Amino acid sequence: MSQATSKAHQQAGSLWSSRMAFILAAVGSAVGLGNIWKFPYITGENGGGAFVLVYLACIAIVGIPVLIAEVMIGRRGGQSPVASMRELTATEGTRKGWRLIGWNGIVASFLVLSFYSVIGGWALVYVFKAASGMFTGADADAIGGTFGGMLASATDLLLWHSVFMAIVIFIVGRGIRSGMERAINTLMPLLFVLLFIMVGYAMTTGKFGEAVSFMFSPDFSKLTTEGILTALGHAAFTLSIGIGVMMAYGSYLPQKVNIARTAMTIAVLDTGVALMAGLAIFPLVFANGLEPGAGPGLIFVTLPLAFGQMSGGVIFGTLFFALLLVAALTSAISMLEPVVEWLEEHKGISRAKSALGGGLAIWLVGVGTVLSFNNLADFHPLAFIPFFEGKTIFDLLDFLVSNLMMPLGGLAIALFAGWAMKRQGLDQEIGLKGGVYSAFMFVLRFLTPAGIAVVFLYNLL
Ligand code: PHE
Repeated sequence: MSQATSKAHQQAGSLWSSRMAFILAAVGSAVGLGNIWKFPYITGENGGGAFVLVYLACIAIVGIPVLIAEVMIGRRGGQSPVASMRELTATEGTRKGWRLIGWNGIVASFLVLSFYSVIGGWALVYVFKAASGMFTGADADAIGGTFGGMLASATDLLLWHSVFMAIVIFIVGRGIRSGMERAINTLMPLLFVLLFIMVGYAMTTGKFGEAVSFMFSPDFSKLTTEGILTALGHAAFTLSIGIGVMMAYGSYLPQKVNIARTAMTIAVLDTGVALMAGLAIFPLVFANGLEPGAGPGLIFVTLPLAFGQMSGGVIFGTLFFALLLVAALTSAISMLEPVVEWLEEHKGISRAKSALGGGLAIWLVGVGTVLSFNNLADFHPLAFIPFFEGKTIFDLLDFLVSNLMMPLGGLAIALFAGWAMKRQGLDQEIGLKGGVYSAFMFVLRFLTPAGIAVVFLYNLL
């Protein structure tokens, strides 16, 4: 059956055209606002080095094994996460409860896109702001004021959120190959080049050494238990795992591609981009006397300062935010994919209509995030629970998806692949042999679940 569905994908011309195309698409999904916007600001909020170390450990122990398992499940199932899980629970003879993995994916990718799109809208505005030359020579106060002004206007944020969602709907509606591969093929490599340039610039600020020690010399006294959960959640968020996105992408993956090798490539590139973003941003933070823990505005304040001071800053700045926008789009596209694939299969709705209907519903939920930065900034829906006291709608959605649904989805995926699936032929499916395969299975079955469980227990106690 899974062979048959893969064939169906193949005949419809909807498999990735090559291993390279899949890598680019998966990297496109993984590399996004998470790396360039979120990683630096949560690193700043959580005190630097110790947080980075825990995050890297989470990538190694949880991120990579779950990524491998999730893509493998997707390819075996060959359909949307819900249908793939339904089929695999039948063919593998496991309990039906595992199907929750698929549902968790649909719901979580729906929710994550609702707020991701709002932040994507910020990147969109900043393309224009950078191009207008308004950052040239501006000081930290002026640039901070620009960012604050943008957040304060609910109508502006709503407009940009709408434009962003419209682009995502359009691309996904056109189909996986024609829509997505083309955009990703050319623009991702350009983003890497630009990040290198920004790190190069950061080296000239005189605070590069301070930034390196902030990021890489761990001070464990600064690490809280919530910080550890954030690091775990971010490891899942940045690799797009635990919510069916990589499963959906894996369902389009040709049988001959080696999953383990591909997953390693994705994880290395993704982590590289995050660390480079940190190395580009923290020197600017220190050189301008800014606060590393400033929160979600961090890159929107530090980078414009740099662009305002360097020669050719208008061009570099415009290009940078344009590429950030592309990185955000390629991730957003992947979030809509599970929802659309599910609507197509289960409701028999055409791809274009699924993208439109699903996208509109997501857009609507996104309005809650839009308002979290202005009219409803002081609305804390769960204020009666001490832990959630100061959290806005955006904070709560982010917490729910990134810190709960993604890591717990990852846990379930590791357990399903490690314990519930039949072992026969799994080594070939994954693309690992002999001792390496055994070592991998040991990690997936024991270390990955234990790692996630420990972080959660630690937070509950
Ligand atoms: N990995 C993306 C990023 O870092 C976000 C993402 C999360 C994409 C979940 C898809 C699914 O920006």
